[in-house]
Amino acid sequence: MSSFPQMRLRRLRRNEALRALVRETKVEAGDLIYPLFVVEGNKIKQEINSMPGIYRYSPDLLPEELESIARLGIPGVILFGIPQHKDQLGSSAYHPKGIIQQAIRVIKKTSPDVLVITDVCLCEYTSHGHCGFVVGDYVDNDKTLELLAKIALSHAEAGADIVAPSDMMDGRVKAIRQTLDKSGFQNTPILAYAAKYASAFYGPFREAAESAPEFGDRRSYQMDPSNWREALREVEQDIAEGADIVMVKPALPYLDVIRKVRDTFNHPLAAYSVSGEYAMAKAAALQGWLDERAIVLEMLTAIKRAGADIIITYYAKEAALWL
Ligand code: PBG
Repeated sequence: MSSFPQMRLRRLRRNEALRALVRETKVEAGDLIYPLFVVEGNKIKQEINSMPGIYRYSPDLLPEELESIARLGIPGVILFGIPQHKDQLGSSAYHPKGIIQQAIRVIKKTSPDVLVITDVCLCEYTSHGHCGFVVGDYVDNDKTLELLAKIALSHAEAGADIVAPSDMMDGRVKAIRQTLDKSGFQNTPILAYAAKYASAFYGPFREAAESAPEFGDRRSYQMDPSNWREALREVEQDIAEGADIVMVKPALPYLDVIRKVRDTFNHPLAAYSVSGEYAMAKAAALQGWLDERAIVLEMLTAIKRAGADIIITYYAKEAALWL
């Protein structure tokens, strides 16, 4: 005679061995990418106010940092540069001796097996802090494409393994692909920040990278947080233009978008758990208001469960230790 309940789902939760056996989502250090901020100068390791535990490094201090990243099993880093010189064109972004180009060379020399991904954008390099070439008070799409292609090429020439445009101009993936191919970099993949939202979660990053826009905001190029169908169009377009990997950003508040992209496309999918996500968890942890380790592993698991293959996170090093 059957007793109630028929099925006891708790049977498989009785102990850790059973739970581990039926666990559907596993986060590994190998899924994580660590963002690094690089500044010009020497012997600089400067903590970022709004991101305790995250630093700006001068190139000479990168080898030591990279060694610890590699030791933790983290496969790659994504680089952000803070140049000394900013101008209307963001020319330091594509200078052959620019801060990112220097950093790539240092890393590729001392830690050749760590993947170097470079953020291809103008906002850290322009005097006005926008992600492109500004005409009046509008970021001109097509003029920006030429600059982005130049930046991506200079990163590839310096030795970048993957270039990652984060500007949200239309047509940038194609422009970058054509320029790379013409110059012998057919094998350099493009990771497109495909669905990048105009998000308040980037606040701490803009302090870290000194890239807050001087006027207006980024809503004429980054996406409206209300839209998910448009995210699929963005991803579709970047794939059509030749993106090898696509990204959704931010991660935690956009898990539904990650899931939609995962279900719709077969490309490798990255999610960027951004500065504001880190800052929220870190601030609460420092207050003793939540269990940092548990919260972070739960966040990363949620992002992976939603469908991300690759997670860019400021918690990569701590998470790799905890995993
Ligand atoms: C550059 C860029 C930004 C981030 C990554 N690349 C800032 C922005 O778009 O304003 C944000 C990353 C983060 O918040 O951690 N365009």
